[in-house]
This record gives sequence, structure tokens and C-alpha cells, in this order.
Amino acid sequence: PDTDYDDLLELAVAVAVETAEMVRARRREGVEVAATKSSPVDIVTEMDRAAEELIFARLMGARPADGFLGEEGASAESTSGVTWIVDPIDGTVNFLYGIPHYSVSIAAALDGVPVVGVVVNVESGERFTATRGGGSYQDGVRLDVGRGPSPELAQRLVGTGFNYVADVKIKQTVAVSALLHEVRDVRRMGSAALDLCSVACGRVDAYVEEGLNVWDMAAGGLVATEAGARLEEHPGVGGNPCFVSAPAHGFEEFLDLVKRAGFLAPGDRG
Ligand code: IPD
Repeated sequence: PDTDYDDLLELAVAVAVETAEMVRARRREGVEVAATKSSPVDIVTEMDRAAEELIFARLMGARPADGFLGEEGASAESTSGVTWIVDPIDGTVNFLYGIPHYSVSIAAALDGVPVVGVVVNVESGERFTATRGGGSYQDGVRLDVGRGPSPELAQRLVGTGFNYVADVKIKQTVAVSALLHEVRDVRRMGSAALDLCSVACGRVDAYVEEGLNVWDMAAGGLVATEAGARLEEHPGVGGNPCFVSAPAHGFEEFLDLVKRAGFLAPGDRG
């Protein structure tokens, strides 16, 4: 089977754009919460499911030997080495409230390593793409956050997010409040995929969040790293992996702050 990254990207972009258009059009007709997941505030809407069904049908129709791992439960075993990792709507709470900041996130992993990523902001149509070794693009324009120096910590704008599970969230808020004193400000924008793309395009200077799932970060993580950011996973204070990302030149200083603020498990604070 074809594992050319550009061919995978072309398919991923076509499917993400079609899905974003469907979600945008149908959002106008209203939203219904279909179920809750890890906690009463962790919701899934009919649209999450419909979007995942569309993505599954398109990708598996085009490439039946590929695997599939979707947030809403669609799955297929891979016999080609390629597995699609999909968040049909990343930022479901924003979607529910009509806050125009949610995305379709599609990554292709080859033998477990993300090699293609596309994140489309549903409402604005903004499109982030990346291929492994081929760089990252924002609406076709190459991204590069690799050149330093980084602003001092006190001037950095930091993106974050919170897990839906209450006791994890409590530990995260303690750490965020410690970090807040040392940086310009904090943003909780509500779509981890777009947060990682924001690191890639310099819309935030850094990002930290515990408890992401692979579909939240597979595509956005590739966009960030291909743009010259680092992305690391450390054991988090709430017992889940904590993801830390920043341009490579400012990464270590930010990681030290993340440790000082208490985001990481006690043994990992350095
Ligand atoms: C969520 C968003 C949010 C992040 C959560 C994710 P979902 O994804 O990415 O920004 O803070 O950790 O679960 O549920 O909207 O697909």
C-alpha cells in the first residue's frame, strides 16, 4: 500500500475539510448532547459521532487496509502499517456553546509514529498541516518557530487545558495558579489540537496540559514539532501523561517552570 506522506496528507486534508464543512453547516441547526464520558462534563454530541462516521467512511473507503483509532470509538486494525488517529471535533465544549474555536484533527501514524497531521479550525477554515521531515504549514505558508531567542518567562503567553476528571483538574489548577505568577498570562482556549498549532505559529509561547488523549495531540503535535517546537511527555501530578511544548530554544526554561509550578509527579520535578 501507498505510504507516501504527500498522498496521505492530500487525503487527510480533503476529508478534514469536507468534515469541517459538514459540521459548520449542521451547527446552525443546533446541538444535542448525546452522552457523557469520563465525567458529567465530558460530553459527546451527535455531531461528534456523525463527523467520526464520515471520516471513517472516507478514509477506510479510500484505504481499506489502514487502521483507525477515533475518539468516539470507531476502530480498525491496520494491515498496511498506517493507522489514522482522529478527533472528529476537538473542542466539543466550544462547539456546544458556539464559541468558534474547535477543530477536526486527523493524523496518520506509520508503525506507531505520526507522519502526517492536519488540523482544521471548523469555523474559520484555518488549516494546519505537517508531514514528518517535510515541515508544517498554516494555510500553505511554512511555519518556523525554531529561531530564537525566546522571550523571558515573564513575557511568555502560555496555553493550557484541564482534564474532565475532577481530582486531576484540582491538581492542575493548583499548578496553573503557581505558573500564572511567572508568565505574561495563561489561555485556556479549549482545543488541544489548536493549542499545539498555536505553539507552531507563535500564537502562544508554550503549552502544558496533563491528560491528553492520543487523538487530541497526534496531528497538532506533529505540526508543533515540524515547526521547530519541542514536545515532551512527562508523568503528571494527577497520574496521567503531561504534555509540554515550546519552541526548542525556550523549551528547557519552560520545562523548569512547569516543574517548579508542580505540574509533574513528585519524582519528576528535578
Ligand atoms: C478536549 C480539548 C480540550 C482539552 C481536553 C480535551 P475534546 O478534547 O482538546 O482543550 O483541554 O483535555 O479532552 O473532548 O473536545 O475532543
